[in-house]
Amino acid sequence: METVINSESMKSNAGSNSAAWSNRHHVIDTKDLTLEEVSYLFNLAKKYKTEMTSGVPPQPVLKGKVLANVFYETSTRTRSSFELAGIHLGMHVLNLEVAASSVQKGESLEDTGRTLQALGVNAIVQRHSLTGSCERLVKVLSDKMRIINAGEGSSAHPTQGLLDAFTMLEHIESLKGAKVAIIGDITHSRVARSNLWLLAKLGVEVHVAGPATLLPEDMSEFGAHVHHRLEDALDKADFVMALRLQLERQKSGLITSLDDYANQYRLDHTRLKLAKPGVKVLHPGPLNRGVEITEALADDPTISLIEQQVANGVFIRMSVLTALCTCQ
Ligand code: CP
Repeated sequence: METVINSESMKSNAGSNSAAWSNRHHVIDTKDLTLEEVSYLFNLAKKYKTEMTSGVPPQPVLKGKVLANVFYETSTRTRSSFELAGIHLGMHVLNLEVAASSVQKGESLEDTGRTLQALGVNAIVQRHSLTGSCERLVKVLSDKMRIINAGEGSSAHPTQGLLDAFTMLEHIESLKGAKVAIIGDITHSRVARSNLWLLAKLGVEVHVAGPATLLPEDMSEFGAHVHHRLEDALDKADFVMALRLQLERQKSGLITSLDDYANQYRLDHTRLKLAKPGVKVLHPGPLNRGVEITEALADDPTISLIEQQVANGVFIRMSVLTALCTCQ
């Protein structure tokens, strides 16, 4: 039977369908997930959200398990929401302070993982600048350990992709055939990649726009339409996602100036008139206010889903932890 993921299925199947989670032990990218697994994660996140927003505390289904947050790069949203997700599920949460750890003495990420395993950690949430870092842990740690990619290089940020699609589904009946525009630095964005893989699976028509220097030449593996003019991507879009402009790109000569970038690609209320009436705007954060999105648009509660994305991050991460750690 075809797996249907829409706002109705998320409500009616909330928390059910646990058989849909395969024997997957790690979440490394949205590219790997089946539609059944995505459906399971969304249904469970919906259940957690419905219960918690009506004041019902979640069951401590992971009581006694230990989660380690290991962030070799900075983070506010992802790290905090994994910590809260673990606490809500009854886990002990250890936040390794990488800057004050033996990593500074040259300890490898493999040995850091081995050390955490010996200390009794059950799941590692890792952010790292290098693509393949989570796979390196998977190779050397016990098959009882669970690894979750919290953002890796320019390649993948799976829980961000999941929370973005989950948030969109709270505003549209189905994403099948919907149009999503992703604006900015696609080449260096792990958020864009994890979104592109997932949205393609969900049947979304994706359009990307940005300066030629920040757009991959070939987007055919994602089936995405490529534009250099923002206006062409915005045309009749249901959702528009602005990406954070990584400011170091200006220093490396990939954009001429922040003003030029803002003049051509900054989202504002006027430009959004090209999109569908009722269009919603997303941004993974952190924001460069005034560069990729105007202050007024970022803070417009009728259009901006930015705070909702952050809030949903906790429920999606609770569902990922539950899926991976329940039958450990
Ligand atoms: N969206 C995101 O990954 O934000 P943080 O870097 O604050 O975790």
